[in-house]
Amino acid sequence: MLASRRILLIIGGGIAAYKALDLIRRLRERGASVTPVLTRAGAQFVTPLSVSALAGSKVFGDLFDLTDEADMGHIQLSRSADLIVVAPATADLMAKMAGGHADDLASTLLLATDTPVLLAPAMNVRMWDHPATQRNIAVLRADGIGMVGPESGDMACGEYGPGRMAEPMEIVAAIEQKLAAGPLAGKRIVVTSGPTHEPIDPVRYIANRSSGAQGTAIAHALAAKGAEVVFVTGPADVTPPQGVQVVRVQSAREMLDAVQGALPADAAIFAAAVADWRVASASDRKLKKDKGALPVLEFAENPDILATVAQMGAGRPGLVVGFAAETDDVTANATAKRARKGCDWIIANDVSPDTGIMGGPENAVTLITADGAEDWPRMTKTEVAARLVGRVAAALG
Ligand code: C5P
Repeated sequence: MLASRRILLIIGGGIAAYKALDLIRRLRERGASVTPVLTRAGAQFVTPLSVSALAGSKVFGDLFDLTDEADMGHIQLSRSADLIVVAPATADLMAKMAGGHADDLASTLLLATDTPVLLAPAMNVRMWDHPATQRNIAVLRADGIGMVGPESGDMACGEYGPGRMAEPMEIVAAIEQKLAAGPLAGKRIVVTSGPTHEPIDPVRYIANRSSGAQGTAIAHALAAKGAEVVFVTGPADVTPPQGVQVVRVQSAREMLDAVQGALPADAAIFAAAVADWRVASASDRKLKKDKGALPVLEFAENPDILATVAQMGAGRPGLVVGFAAETDDVTANATAKRARKGCDWIIANDVSPDTGIMGGPENAVTLITADGAEDWPRMTKTEVAARLVGRVAAALG
């Protein structure tokens, strides 16, 4: 899939730089050529010799190396690739990109290029969470820069949280996607999926029976058509697809934050079964049995993520799609829901227990648009996803 594709790989200065060596191997195995650029900080973590041996290419490092400028100037270097990948993309490199700095070879290439760019961020969790980094990420996204990861997990510095660089195979999948010539190439699409968990106390929660199967199938089908997908998922049974950016959340409020953080996007598809209510004051201690007295739970309404995004005005995705799980008067209720929420399309389905749809492999849906209602025959959730994605591609085309 990557045969004769040219990747310019910028290796920034972070402990995750060792994974860049494996990434080079994986890319070359797939037929890609890799031109490496090692920043001065990157060279503290991996040696130019190992990078050039694996890449089978000279390693570029210094902007002011006159031989390179004669051989291949930095402008040409920045444009001679099909894709520029930055792995690891450090907080510092991302800040430079967001600010338009060009004070070394890597930042100069990134400013001079007209080639698509994919970042694999890696940094300490506090650096990732810092408002400055989050601001820079929003700027870079708005500039059309792609991102894969970071993942959450144990970090080399002993802390836990988001900031760990995506694994090499995840980065390869994202590169394949970015280079895929599918009808959704260059489109960024946010998908919500799965149930939400609303805490009662630290060990108990309120949830629903959504498996996440339909949202996962949609994310997979979008990625297969070349879209850059941000997959915001509650705690679902099914494994998220490869080659999408996965953001894991628990509650509806966390899901709204994650969706807003993923914008701007060309489209947003809200397949999650979001809990309508949360416990108004979840206890931070486990509730105890109290001599037969029953606890009373008070509920508060959760934000409606679909309606919030559909009605956001400036920055609204061009296409906003919601789902409507109904048990009676499916088309009438879903048509009213489309108007009430302000979305463009509603995918309505009948989730009465005898249909076996909720948690099952099949779905029978009605697509509701401004033009009216269209019944689709009963088919697998994978087929529903493929058909929906075909419609999305036509609408965004
Ligand atoms: O109002 P109802 O829950 O039936 O609407 C279903 C649609 O709204 C789905 O697309 C679901 O993902 C979305 N939704 C949401 N936030 C909520 C409730 C529902 O995004 N709090």
